[in-house]
Amino acid sequence: MKEIYYPSRELSRQARIKNMCEYNDLMEWAKEDYEGFWDHWAKEKLEWIEPYGKVLDESNAPFYKWFVGGKLNITEQCIDRHIDKRKNKAAIIFEGDRGDKQIITYLELYRNVNRFANLLRNEFGVKKGDRVVLYMPMIPEAAYAMLACARIGAIHSVVFGGFSAEALRDRIIDAQAKVVITADGAYRKGAPYMLKPTVDTALEEGCDSVEKVLVVQRNNEDVVWIGGRDYSYNELIENQPDVCEPEVMDSEDPLFLLYTSGSTGKPKGVQHSQAGYILWAQMTMEWVFDVKENDTFWCTADIGWITGHTYIVYGPLAAGATTVMFEGVPTYPDAGRAWKMVEEYKINQFYTAPTAIRVLHKLGEHEPEKYDLSSLRILGTVGEPIDPPAWKWYYDVVGGGRCSIVDTWWQTETGGHMISPLPGATPVKPACATFPLPGIMAEVLERDGTPVATGEQGLLCITKPWPSMIRTIWGDPERFKKSYFGDVVKDGKAVYFSGDGAVVDEDGYITIIGRVDDVINVSGHRLGTAEIESAIKKHPHVAEVAVVGKPDPIKGESIFAYIVLKDDVADSLGEEVELSKEINDVIAREIGNIAKADAIVVVPGLPKTRSGKTMRRILRAIAKGEPITQDISTLEDPSIVEKIEEAVRCAG
Ligand code: WT7
Repeated sequence: MKEIYYPSRELSRQARIKNMCEYNDLMEWAKEDYEGFWDHWAKEKLEWIEPYGKVLDESNAPFYKWFVGGKLNITEQCIDRHIDKRKNKAAIIFEGDRGDKQIITYLELYRNVNRFANLLRNEFGVKKGDRVVLYMPMIPEAAYAMLACARIGAIHSVVFGGFSAEALRDRIIDAQAKVVITADGAYRKGAPYMLKPTVDTALEEGCDSVEKVLVVQRNNEDVVWIGGRDYSYNELIENQPDVCEPEVMDSEDPLFLLYTSGSTGKPKGVQHSQAGYILWAQMTMEWVFDVKENDTFWCTADIGWITGHTYIVYGPLAAGATTVMFEGVPTYPDAGRAWKMVEEYKINQFYTAPTAIRVLHKLGEHEPEKYDLSSLRILGTVGEPIDPPAWKWYYDVVGGGRCSIVDTWWQTETGGHMISPLPGATPVKPACATFPLPGIMAEVLERDGTPVATGEQGLLCITKPWPSMIRTIWGDPERFKKSYFGDVVKDGKAVYFSGDGAVVDEDGYITIIGRVDDVINVSGHRLGTAEIESAIKKHPHVAEVAVVGKPDPIKGESIFAYIVLKDDVADSLGEEVELSKEINDVIAREIGNIAKADAIVVVPGLPKTRSGKTMRRILRAIAKGEPITQDISTLEDPSIVEKIEEAVRCAG
């Protein structure tokens, strides 16, 4: 039996959901009257310009609609409505890589976002429904840009700054973006780095939809300016009026696209809506992070990921909280940087990924003890399974045994948390996401929709639509249906399957195992094997390739690539080291550094079935150094397995 950690009395007393009875009541309510439950919260939490009619429209499932016909602008939710009571409250606390600081109050945020919105609307002609791609560093202007788009009804698509020009180009083309917003560059580990040149390269081919590029001058390094296309934000923003009429948006109008990897094909543009998304962003801030008026909330993600969207920008601001935005990395200038910031800003909630926890643990086991971390109340983790030792260190050393740990399971597609402890209520088992949040019908099922037996691994599904769910894949509704509603049928109805495996224990606790599809999770970053493989195939010597994830003590998983060379080069090739470097250069060019392989092994062939399917399970076992338990007699050439094992042994 696992140990159980109970929330402190202190935390329970002040929390919004104070004990498991209250949790169960909420859950019962949702089960008995699902629409009534959501109707209540949508009325209580959101500012409507015009009320909605129907709460949930299931007539065209799985294209669900929430709060049908309602009108709102979510920037009013995030900014305008706070002006009355919080105009001088810090909305954003920004800390730069080199220690420079900025505090942006809600009134300043209002002005900055409105001016930015006016710039886009009046100078660039951006209209409701236009797509705007953001390729930005972690600076306040990135948040302004997102909110400015929302203000005028444009759909933003933030592309993580670590993605390559090719990856950026694919996303610009898929979204048919009209405008790209970027920065000259920013700072990392004390030195300037550049972003604008990557945008220039991306725009060299096929991006005809792009009319204008807006460049925030952050590091003032030299960049190329293309007349008539590139404009300086710093210059244009000067003359913009402080007030911009918000566009009246329908509940179901798209708010943003965020590209994420699937098991097949190119990245998918996950489309989120207005009302449902912002509702759940705010509610999870309140239920899971229990933000209070005077709290300072720090999520260390990058705005290029969903975590940054929901828990740096939209959630905290909708909740009227103070959100910290950090340009740098938590290990620079030393392993105490994050803890120093916690002390300095008296951070109350700290939210990060297990990889970061493992790195900080490794670099400075006792580092947190040098700082006053007594302000911390709630510690969050997200993005990948956390292992018990990392959890324990987080709990004991960072949290001083006082804080609740919320291990939040969710996805780009879910918009906000789905399964997580409630900090004042849930008795927690280490490294366990525990229970679905009130209103979320998460179940671990077999393919036929029956609940999986206790202790057995099953498919993690959400069996009812929820407000912040993905609405579709941009431009590809069929792929949306197939990717998420094509695997599990419960009571005759296709239900949302997450791609994750999970186990339910005898007390009903849900533990996430990880992806059961061909998606690899490296340091909490989601990468598709198909994407990496198609990048590697661009190397002229590569005939075939298969990529698998290998468990990694720090990164969770690392990328392991099996390569079959073309016949004519196989013998003549000298150093494999050179080849590995070249292949990683190709990956960096096609996707970005985050997708580089840790191991690249040349093999004589891949384990294929007679129908030509690569048996990745065998490759995963070999990468791990595990014995092969699968039946290999179905392989076209069973002897290949031994040859691959041999190649891996020699390479290792
Ligand atoms: C995948 C989603 C959602 C924020 C960041 C990642 C994995 C997420 C947990 C957790 C174990 C987790 C899952 C999921 N994941 N949170 N608490 N425990 N695994 O978003 O890039 O869409 O990736 O991250 O495998 O499917 P994402």
